[in-house]
Parts: sequence; structure tokens; C-alpha cells
Amino acid sequence: MSGTDAQGPGADLHLDLAAAGGRRAALVEALRAAVRDGRLAPGTRLPPYRSLAADLVIARNTVADAYAELVAEGWLTSRQGSGTRVADRVAAPAPGPPRPPAPAPLPYDLVQGKPDPAAFPRAAWLASSRRALTAAPHEAFGIGDPRGRVELRLALTEYLGRVRGVRTTPDRIVICSGAAHALRLLARVLGGPAGTWAVEAYGLPFHRGLLAEAGVRTVPVDVDGDGARVADIPRPARTVLLTPAHQFPTGGPLHPERRAGVLEWARASGGLVVEDDYDGEFRYDRRPVGVVQGLDPERTVLVGSASKALSPALRIGWMCLPAALVDEVVAAKGLREPYASATEQLTLADFLVSGAYDRHVRRMRQRYRGRRDRLTALLAERVPQARVTGIAAGLHAVVELPPGTERPALAAAVRHGVAVEGLASYRHPEARGPARPDGLVVGYATPPERLYGAALDALCAALSEALADAPS
Ligand SMILES: Cc1ncc(COP(=O)(O)O)c(C=O)c1O
Repeated sequence: MSGTDAQGPGADLHLDLAAAGGRRAALVEALRAAVRDGRLAPGTRLPPYRSLAADLVIARNTVADAYAELVAEGWLTSRQGSGTRVADRVAAPAPGPPRPPAPAPLPYDLVQGKPDPAAFPRAAWLASSRRALTAAPHEAFGIGDPRGRVELRLALTEYLGRVRGVRTTPDRIVICSGAAHALRLLARVLGGPAGTWAVEAYGLPFHRGLLAEAGVRTVPVDVDGDGARVADIPRPARTVLLTPAHQFPTGGPLHPERRAGVLEWARASGGLVVEDDYDGEFRYDRRPVGVVQGLDPERTVLVGSASKALSPALRIGWMCLPAALVDEVVAAKGLREPYASATEQLTLADFLVSGAYDRHVRRMRQRYRGRRDRLTALLAERVPQARVTGIAAGLHAVVELPPGTERPALAAAVRHGVAVEGLASYRHPEARGPARPDGLVVGYATPPERLYGAALDALCAALSEALADAPS
């Protein structure tokens, strides 16, 4: 039977007895209305006379009479031992206007950006959650510190220092609901004369869009094989947003001279570097490239997120801020809106401190490296005209294609059931420098393990088809 039990001491039933007439008539009409508009689903068990009468401060007999009337009308059914329920055949509320059917998702998801959702470490997360909630002081269930839980800020200070070379202290960390939230907050704080941000000419359109929404004008800085050409940061910009560990989406690390160069620019111009360290832990062939922030914590805001290492569903991110910015960022965030759930923050803190985060990242790094190797090997064998780049790190690679073939490749991918994006869609609309070669940005982390081989076969088939048709 569908529906739920609305009976029992804890179950509330919202009924408005405002209708004209006596109490019984008002109750009958209120129950009818609740069934008619679907608030009480077919099969739902109604509260016993006694408890509904007590809740509504009316006589028990009034409830009994109202139920009996609705049973007689066919709205409710009453059976010995099973109480009074909403009848199964009561018509559902009239459907709204027809909605256009959603396009069917393509079976192979190679759109960059998401870790494998099937690999979320449920058991370890649950164990952390249990430990964290058991140990949490009562005050953890209040409004709390607007910077976020101190347990998490402490754990991140240790973890980010050890793994990413971040130099910070818990009082300079502000927890937020992800990198996107961090950028929104920073855009509010760095408005005014800093309202123009330099961004990489290839970057996440979503991030450019949210900066624009916040009133920030973004100006592009060209990207080559050594990352962003930071010597060319345009004059009006006082803030530059970079992905130094793994240029997004082209894939290379920022050259050491450019790392030093961007900090020189910041010191000379009074500017600020916003460092998006979105997937810094996923480096395969050599030691991770440390963060720029560690070279000058007063000129850099480090933005990090649990979205790649764990899941974008957690909505937990962090900012490691220069001391001078902390109060303003906290004020922009709002003193009473923590944005990331305190219980999830406590769980993540335990996950970090217990070593579960390191173990998970290590396991996923191995798995993603295996997937990356399969992608490169298969493309080398089946689509030799394609060149895979940006593969030293991260959860995606760029598959460079012969000139003029990006669009046909995207169309062929759809025909073969592959969701994937083209490199051109990441280019800043005002970018004037040399464009990167045609190519696809292939996220290899998302498909479930059992579908990954089929996804690669489909991608190779699509590319072979597109490149065979392409003008030579
Ligand atoms: C370049 C880049 N930075 C950061 C993130 C993480 O964003 P968030 O923490 O808002 O989920 C992503 C996720 O797709 C990304 O592509």
C-alpha cells in the first residue's frame, strides 16, 4: 500500500478548520481538501480519533463522525485493525500543464568535473560522522562561528600544509559551500577599484558567469603550454584568478618563473592572486606541485573544495585568506548563515584527522591513473591523429584534434551516446590571443567502472568517424 502513517504520537496533520459551519463540517471539508490536493496520499493512515481530537481541541465524537462521513463518501476506508486510511482510488490532483520531455541523458558521461559518484567512501564517511557527532559538544548544534567549525579549520591547516604546502592558521580559514561560493564572496569583497579581475583565457564559463553576476568584469590572460602568461595581466585588473597546479582545462602546471612572476606583479601593483586549487591532490607522474599561496600568504587567497576529492554533493569548500581580508570575507558571508552544515563540517574534520581522506585520495588517484592510461593507450591505437595532453594530473584530459574537427567530433560523440565538451567552449569570449588547437575536454572519472570501457570505445568510434569525414 502506498501512503504513510499519519498516526502515532509524533505524527502531525495540518488541517485548517476555518471553513464555515460547525466543527464537524469544517473537519470534513479540511480532510477532503487535503486528500483532493494530494497532501494526504492514497493509503495514508489517519491519526486515531483520540489524538486528532486532542490536537484540534474538539470532541472525539466529532472526529469519529467526520471520518464516518468521508468513508461513506468514498474518500476514506476503514478496516478493523488497520485504522482509517485515505482510499486508494481517490483521484490524484489534476496534472499541471504538460512539460516538454527532458532530453534523455547520453549513456556515457565524459563531461569533465565530477569524480566517480559510485566511489564515494560511504562506510568511512559514516564512521567519521558517527565519531564526530558522538564527540561534538552541545554548542556545535547552535549557530556557531561564521568562519566555520574550528575542528575543520584545524584539520585543514594541518592537511593543506602537509599535502599542498599551504601556509595558514585556523583563524585565517573561512569555510564556505564550495569554490563557487568562495568566488561569489571574494567578488563582493574585492569590488570597487578591484572590480576587474584577470582570468585565464581558458577557464570555467560557470565561474566567469558568477563573477559577472557579482558585477566583476573579467579580462582574459592568454594561456600557453606553461600556463597563464602572467606578464600580460592587463592594467585595470587588481585581482587575478589562476589554476596554477593544473591549468583548467588545458592541464599544465604554471611554470615556476610565472609563479614567481605573478607574486611580483601582486606586490608591485597591490594586487591579489586568487588560487583555485581544485584538484591539486590528483597528480600522477610526479610529486604534486605545491600551491603559490605558500610563497606569499599575504598576497594570495587559496580556494579549495571537497568536490573533486570526495563529492560535489557535500558543498564544502574553504578559503585560506590573507589576514587583512578575513573580517571582510566573514562579513560578506553573513554572521548567521554558515552555508556548510556544521555536522558535515565535523564529519569532514574527522575524515581528515583519522587519515581516511588521505587513504581515499590515494585509492582514487590509483583508479583515475588507470583510467587515464586506458584513455591514452586506446586513443593512440585507434585514433592516432588525436594527441592527448594535460594528463599529468586531474580528472580530465584534453584530446587535441586536427584543425576544423572539434565541432564534427562533438556531433559524432552525441551520435555515439557520449556526453563531452569541446575546448572552444572554455575560451573567454574576449580572448584575442592565439586559440588552442581544436580538442575535446574528456572527463574520465565519472562513468561507473563497468561502463568505462564501453565509454572509451564509443569515444574512439565517434572520433574515428569525425576525423574520417574531416577535410584533410
Ligand atoms: C576549475 C574548477 N574549480 C573548482 C571547482 C569546484 O567547485 P565547487 O567547489 O563549487 O564544487 C570545479 C568543479 O567543477 C572546477 O572545475
